Amino acid sequence: MSVNEAAKASLGGYMDSEKVEKVYTNYAIMYDQTFGRMVQQSRESAVRGLRIQPGDRVLEVGVGTGEALPLYPKNCEVLGIDFAEGMLKKARKRMEVHQLDHVTLRHMDAAQMELENDSFDIVMAAYVVTAVPDYRKVVSEMIRVCKPGGRIIMLNHFSNGNKMIAAVEKMISPLCKHIGFRTDLSLNTVLEGTTLVVERKKKVNPLRFWHLVECVNQKNGHVIPVVSA
Ligand SMILES: C[S@@+](CC[C@H](N)C(=O)[O-])C[C@H]1O[C@@H](n2cnc3c(N)ncnc32)[C@H](O)[C@@H]1O
Repeated sequence: MSVNEAAKASLGGYMDSEKVEKVYTNYAIMYDQTFGRMVQQSRESAVRGLRIQPGDRVLEVGVGTGEALPLYPKNCEVLGIDFAEGMLKKARKRMEVHQLDHVTLRHMDAAQMELENDSFDIVMAAYVVTAVPDYRKVVSEMIRVCKPGGRIIMLNHFSNGNKMIAAVEKMISPLCKHIGFRTDLSLNTVLEGTTLVVERKKKVNPLRFWHLVECVNQKNGHVIPVVSA
């Protein structure tokens, strides 16, 4: 591996955008019956714990087929973004079926959001941080568009503190990236150098393999610099 490639991998430019988009567009047809169904209980518990206030603006990053969308109260405003058209198509259908007038969907790359600074009270990323080509850019964008003092919630698998399990996660990660996610990312790595402060962290089902991490965005109005991959 060249120095450039090594730097790219360590900085998060780990998966190819086109490939990830294609993987999820192809996966869309069976997503709800497979992974989507398996993690629905944890999505429900995540949204229940958001303590959404009337009028809150919520951003769902990597909204996928929109399985969380019917869970949001109708007195808030939700924007869902994703770059895989196949996933968004399913999400649009779900919006229609459930008549979700408080939800808007947009085709957008989470690494370059076409959204204003400080414009959301809550930013939610469910099973996304390890599924994006460049997590640093995406986390940086989530911080930018979230209001100072707003909350950023990540529902995700983060690599294990146990050395043996972490070694296995590192070993299988290059294989997993072909099916759209990586297994070797730790929460500390994701949060390093950001203004996010963990307020709540708990393991969630199935098998308590995933974590629900709620952070407060402690920025003071300045944009967090992105280290490009
Ligand atoms: C594992 S799925 C999770 C979907 C949904 N959040 C859920 O709970 O089922 C990951 C999603 O992230 C999207 N994604 C990956 N990289 C992205 C990016 N750079 N910009 C926008 N969406 C992205 C994928 O298209 C996919 O829909």
